[in-house]
Amino acid sequence: MSTTIETHVGSPRRRVDGRLKVTGAARYAGEVAAPGLLHGYVVSGMIAKGRITAIDTAAAEAVPGVVKIFTHANRPNVPGGDADYQDMVAPPGQPFRPLFNDRILYSGQPVALVVAEDFGTARHAASLVNVRIEAEPHETDLDRLRESAYVPPEKREGIAPPPEPRGNADAAFAASPMRVQNEYRIASEHHNPMEPHASTVIWEGGGRITVHDKIQGVKNSHDYITAVFGLPPDDVRVISPFVGGAFGIGLRPQYQLFLAVMAALDLERSVRVELTREQMFTFGYRPGTINAVAVGANPDGKLQAIRHAAVAGTSSFEEYQEVVVNWSGLLYHCDNIALNYRIARLDTYTPADMRAPGAPLGVFAIESAIDELSYALKIDPLELRLNNYADTDENAGKPFSSRELRAACRQGAERFGWSKRQPEPRSMRAGRELVGWGMATGIWEAMMMPHSARATLTADGKLELACATADIGTGTYTILTQIAADSLGLRMEDVTTRLGDTSLPEAPVEGGSWTAASAGSAVHLACEKLRQTLFQHARGMNASPLANASFEHVQFRDGRIDLRTAPSEGVSIVDVLRAAGLDRIEEQETAAPNAETKAKFSQYTHSAVFAEVRVDEQLGVVRVTRIVDAVAAGKIINPKTARSQIIGGVVFGLGMALHEESMLDHKLGRFMNRNLAEYHVPANADVPEIDVIFVDEHDDKANPLGVKGLGEIGIVGTAAAIANAIFHATGKRVRSLPITIDKLIE
Ligand code: MOS
Repeated sequence: MSTTIETHVGSPRRRVDGRLKVTGAARYAGEVAAPGLLHGYVVSGMIAKGRITAIDTAAAEAVPGVVKIFTHANRPNVPGGDADYQDMVAPPGQPFRPLFNDRILYSGQPVALVVAEDFGTARHAASLVNVRIEAEPHETDLDRLRESAYVPPEKREGIAPPPEPRGNADAAFAASPMRVQNEYRIASEHHNPMEPHASTVIWEGGGRITVHDKIQGVKNSHDYITAVFGLPPDDVRVISPFVGGAFGIGLRPQYQLFLAVMAALDLERSVRVELTREQMFTFGYRPGTINAVAVGANPDGKLQAIRHAAVAGTSSFEEYQEVVVNWSGLLYHCDNIALNYRIARLDTYTPADMRAPGAPLGVFAIESAIDELSYALKIDPLELRLNNYADTDENAGKPFSSRELRAACRQGAERFGWSKRQPEPRSMRAGRELVGWGMATGIWEAMMMPHSARATLTADGKLELACATADIGTGTYTILTQIAADSLGLRMEDVTTRLGDTSLPEAPVEGGSWTAASAGSAVHLACEKLRQTLFQHARGMNASPLANASFEHVQFRDGRIDLRTAPSEGVSIVDVLRAAGLDRIEEQETAAPNAETKAKFSQYTHSAVFAEVRVDEQLGVVRVTRIVDAVAAGKIINPKTARSQIIGGVVFGLGMALHEESMLDHKLGRFMNRNLAEYHVPANADVPEIDVIFVDEHDDKANPLGVKGLGEIGIVGTAAAIANAIFHATGKRVRSLPITIDKLIE
């Protein structure tokens, strides 16, 4: 007898939190109400470096409704020392301490907090605060600081430094008959999530607070607050069930959290501090990065040498680091490689992880250089890549756990129609527009982190999943629900998933594309345990049809445990709980990466991105008209939310290629385009048809689910593919992102 069991894992499913979001029932950190809630408005300094000499708050204090104005001069004592400001993902250095002293470290630094009965009053009063700052010379120009760039002595945790050089890249490059050597730049960018940063601190009495924070990991905010303010861990609960976009800027606690907690503790009142769009430009950003790349090859296209040296900005107080150059040692087989990464101290805030931190920058550089090499060699860019394909991780000298990049290249090319491409630049036209086809590959590490989860089955046959991780819009609620529903044979409607609360089992920040693998594995383990427990109870029931069965002989399906061989013989799980006299069965498990397989195999996701652009030569206007992204990311739990993830990433890649740029005025040391009119993120009219392919990739090593993660791979390679398409269309190579009109018509 054959039975088909419908499984949720692997099938497209709607977001389980979709209704809450579209109806507005989902509450975000800045929307939570509380009786007597006070509102804080931040006064931002506008000098890049110096010392506060005076703050006059008299006029602001006279405004009716103002409760208190906090500055460095009158702030409550902060018991924590320097190290207490470190958070879970802080780079080495001295974290920024809001209102700590009179030092000004960057433009936009918070210098006062006005707390009032309502937001409008606080904002108005803040405009009356008079801050005097004695300016000192500052430097925010990476070009001028290039020579001072250095290899960070203390490595940031989780960020692999460049690998040791292999062979002799300088000699091999000099001896190469075909050479490309250029500098590739990426502008600074800001994350610009829809939801601005906000913290609502509810004063619970007796020193206890509940904090609704915009954060990608509640534990990070919790541990930061308890360390900085010296609070007992149990007196602080942090909640963040919904995040309206973050893209990395929600990984670290930001200053509004400190300020809201400080004010709430001092006033013994509930306080909310929310930031304006302009203030969203006053902390972490993607650092502007300069890549010097040299690639050398034989006339047959065999790569002989790769050199990639990147210089990026950090702040004067922390050594921000990300992986920029390592990718150049991973994509291609090459015996002579030298990779180098240095940072320079700017008088800005510390950069922050943003949308696949480092990867799209380094990959733009190497994938542009490889594209340039293909034209020099007169070899098709895709063919050149496949001819130099790396079958193993030559950085680490290890095999990949799986690597279907070749298949991604072939399937992407097929879908795109790459074989119809005319190789010569400027050879394809549509009406008055030049048409360009370009491609690039992408790569991102497939990570997993230790992660706990709890599964609770109640007497009514419903399951509750719980863990502290966030769903930053990626679909985490939905995929965890799918995994649990399949495991216990329940409908998705019978499973409720709770996330984003420090009262739930511990989780790392949601970032690095590791949550599907990490939270998913934890849920899988907890549900496995629950199945075993249920089965034992089922066997012990009076006259149980499963009395002589072993675990392998049963299946969990439609709320029942049945014999596989005779699916009508079994028991319902509601009856199992009733018979055992239990109102619930609860199991909690922790999943951790397998150290042995991690030591033996390198784990990465891959993509091949194909882009079509149309360029109006007279106007310099570029339209991206088509993108195919073929992604190899292991098992896809939910093709619908997965596709969404890749589309989002590709759109960000498009933004990086054509629009996004945080413009620093070096005279003022200030980001100038601090709004969504002048900082352009792609809008609907900018976004073409995006065709996503998930390549079959079986990975039994990455984790029990075979999942590799999708949050970040969509952006990597996309900007390079678009830039390469623009060259193919126009014959003009722009090596500085974003590729704005001025760069094309100059
Ligand atoms: Mo991601 S930049 O780790 O949120």
